[in-house]
Amino acid sequence: MINHRGPEFKELIERLTANLKKLFLTKNDVFFLTASGTGAMEAAVVNTLSPGDKVLSVTTGVFGQRFANIAKAYGANVQDLTVEYGQAAEPETVRRALRADPAIRAVVITHNETSTGVTNDLAAISRIVKGEFDKLLLVDAVSSIGSIPLPVDEWQCDIVATGSQKGWMAPPGIAMISVGPKAWEASKTAKMPRFYFDLTAAKNYLERAQTPWTPALSVLYGLDVGLQKMLKVGLDNVHRKQARIGQLCREGVKSLGLSLLADERHASNTVTAVKVPAGVDGGKLVGTLRTEHNVVLAGGQGPLTGKIFRIGHLGWVEESDIQAVLEALRQALPKVGFTPAAARRS
Ligand SMILES: Cc1ncc(COP(=O)(O)O)c(C=O)c1O
Repeated sequence: MINHRGPEFKELIERLTANLKKLFLTKNDVFFLTASGTGAMEAAVVNTLSPGDKVLSVTTGVFGQRFANIAKAYGANVQDLTVEYGQAAEPETVRRALRADPAIRAVVITHNETSTGVTNDLAAISRIVKGEFDKLLLVDAVSSIGSIPLPVDEWQCDIVATGSQKGWMAPPGIAMISVGPKAWEASKTAKMPRFYFDLTAAKNYLERAQTPWTPALSVLYGLDVGLQKMLKVGLDNVHRKQARIGQLCREGVKSLGLSLLADERHASNTVTAVKVPAGVDGGKLVGTLRTEHNVVLAGGQGPLTGKIFRIGHLGWVEESDIQAVLEALRQALPKVGFTPAAARRS
């Protein structure tokens, strides 16, 4: 490890910061916090809000619920705009909620809901939240930014949070966050308690090319490589690859006779949620894939436990990986008692 208060670290953090701004498409400040993505979500809340502030939480799944819970834990007055899991938030319902309560100060939203495989139309929602109502917009982009389009400045996102283990191709342990002028303005009066995640401290230290606390250096090394790799490939090309892979995965799953959870108009290009067919034990299916095919898929979370399984396809993933997953599924499904309708007919 290097001295995190020395010249080598200065070089590293300055390169990381410059590269992350290019990939976030932002002129806002960006910081590397030693935490997982949830730490950056907490930082977004505690640096901009005060106990009692009204917050609209656009909740499309487990991670949206988490954002709401963080705000509640710090005393915000949270109004949940909960959408049926598998559906995206309708911009019009956000407009209606903001119109109904002018006292709402901030909107928290998950861009890409990893628990359901749905991508919210953040561009349209931002036009309402920022363009029509001028509220703070705090975005959980943990499983989206870098992998699918989220131009931070164009979409006027005041705070955007992500984590090193997602599309950035690094190990877990670093959260990244962008902070815009309106968020800094809000931080001056925000009264929620904060210490470790005080972004003003992060800003002051970054001016000296340091972090306030000892950073997860080894993760930053990995992230440095990931960001450089993405810039070399080009952000547009990364997005194109993700779109191809998402499509390949969805079409492949359907061709096996399975159904998607997500409304396909809003299906995510970083994760695909698949319904566990009736009569099949989802846990057994995921277990068979892991032990017999060396393919690791995720189950459902919260109310979706046992009802879906999820295929993650962001970061260092190629078409051949998806084909391998589909082939493993094709072999494993009959072992857990599933015969696709097409095969039953023949
Ligand atoms: C959309 C979303 N938000 C938040 C999180 C939480 O991030 P972490 O587990 O890095 O704290 C995740 C993790 O998968 C996520 O996918």
